Amino acid sequence: MTRSHDLIIRNATIIDGTGAPRMTGDVGVSGDRIATVGDLSAARAAREVDASGLILAPGFIDAHTHDDRAVLADPDMAAKVSQGVTTVVAGNCGISLAPMPVPVPQPVTPPLDLLDASGEWYRFKSFADYAAALRETPAAVNVACYVGHTTLRAIAMADLERAATGDEIAVMQALVEEAMEAGAIGVSTGLAYPPARAATTEEVIEVCRPMVPFGGLHATHMRDEGKASDAALAESFEIGRALGVQTLISHHKLSDTAMHGRSVETLATIARAREAQGVSLDCYPYVASSTILTAEHAARSPRTLVTWSRGRPDMAGRDLAEVVAELGGTLEEAVARLQPAGAVYFTMVEEDVSRILAFAPTMIGSDGLPHDTFPHPRLWGTFPRVLGRYSREMGLFDLETAVHKMTGLTAAEFGFRDRGVVREGAFADLVLFDADTVRDRATFEAPTQRAEGIAQVIANGEVIWREGRATGARPGQVLRREVA
Ligand code: ZN
Ligand code: CU
Repeated sequence: MTRSHDLIIRNATIIDGTGAPRMTGDVGVSGDRIATVGDLSAARAAREVDASGLILAPGFIDAHTHDDRAVLADPDMAAKVSQGVTTVVAGNCGISLAPMPVPVPQPVTPPLDLLDASGEWYRFKSFADYAAALRETPAAVNVACYVGHTTLRAIAMADLERAATGDEIAVMQALVEEAMEAGAIGVSTGLAYPPARAATTEEVIEVCRPMVPFGGLHATHMRDEGKASDAALAESFEIGRALGVQTLISHHKLSDTAMHGRSVETLATIARAREAQGVSLDCYPYVASSTILTAEHAARSPRTLVTWSRGRPDMAGRDLAEVVAELGGTLEEAVARLQPAGAVYFTMVEEDVSRILAFAPTMIGSDGLPHDTFPHPRLWGTFPRVLGRYSREMGLFDLETAVHKMTGLTAAEFGFRDRGVVREGAFADLVLFDADTVRDRATFEAPTQRAEGIAQVIANGEVIWREGRATGARPGQVLRREVA
């Protein structure tokens, strides 16, 4: 008998990523593609896997990450691959590692320090240099990346407390054009953060304009995710309409006590906007957020955990209330002594998180922060948590829908051609998992515990995770946005 494939996965329960009901069958892989889906009982391959009792799904796509540096510095990407992730979308929230044509100003302006507080990794003069580094030393996973508006502001402007001038906008536009030519998927903004807060709607529209001919998308960490959510949504849609581009509302949430329950309205607003223009959204499955530590955020949060601190590294993992008591003085003084620092804020409620996750267009994105000393558990737990807790235990949606939200839907929204689906001709990005046992184990107390139930992960036809560990294979490709 001839060897028709490089790899055959037999007797799998296939969930193909489109949302269609599962079916049993075999999948044959040749090179980096899926060659056959069906009955391969007469075929033989160099490597064969018996997947009886396991689900075979497309590798998960993490729609929202800050893995710009991790994919180069930690190319096995265990935090993500251990969850079944085979593609990460980086450069979110206005922050991208590239371009940085001059040495990054020291100290690194928060939130740019979420990627690298030392500044050492802000070393790519152009987006093309960054993409070239990813191609020369690939990660285990595929990477797609935005160019970040806040990064561009740090380059183009001496004073970040005001709107950009025409000349500064022109500098940023040239960098956006270069990034898009080099394969960026669009521009991300983080208007909620101090270094971008002074940007006007018009500034964002103008800075994004050069991405339009490339079909780029605008991902927004909105100006507000609390009481002014309505205005922030309106601004996001206005930017998309002015340019005729896809808008992606990042990590949609209601993070203010006064707004709890209001996802009924924000989702209705998003649904209405989607009738007129392209709007996508992503969400992570937790009631706590995580970003830089500020007294302003902490004052509004019922509970705050310190995730990292350069001022007091020993305080990572501690409850901020305890830290304040221990250091004496006010909240503001304690926060000042910890700077620069990061935190977890418990500002959401389950009702909103569940409703947003269940909304049909919502994609799953971890928003994990890979360089934090004591990271939010979303970094290691997001995808198994959606499968285990939200689908199996809570019954929020069936497994086919859960998988769709992390594969086929995501690939379609981003324009990742031939990804996110199990079908002949698609790239062989695959995950094998146990539907009965898959679950997250990372918690706020033990945030880097690996998930359970992920048996094997394959990217571009190569096994990247098996028997609870990375194989060392690094077949990741740089993905572009390809829209018809
Ligand atoms: Zn964000
Ligand atoms: Cu983010």
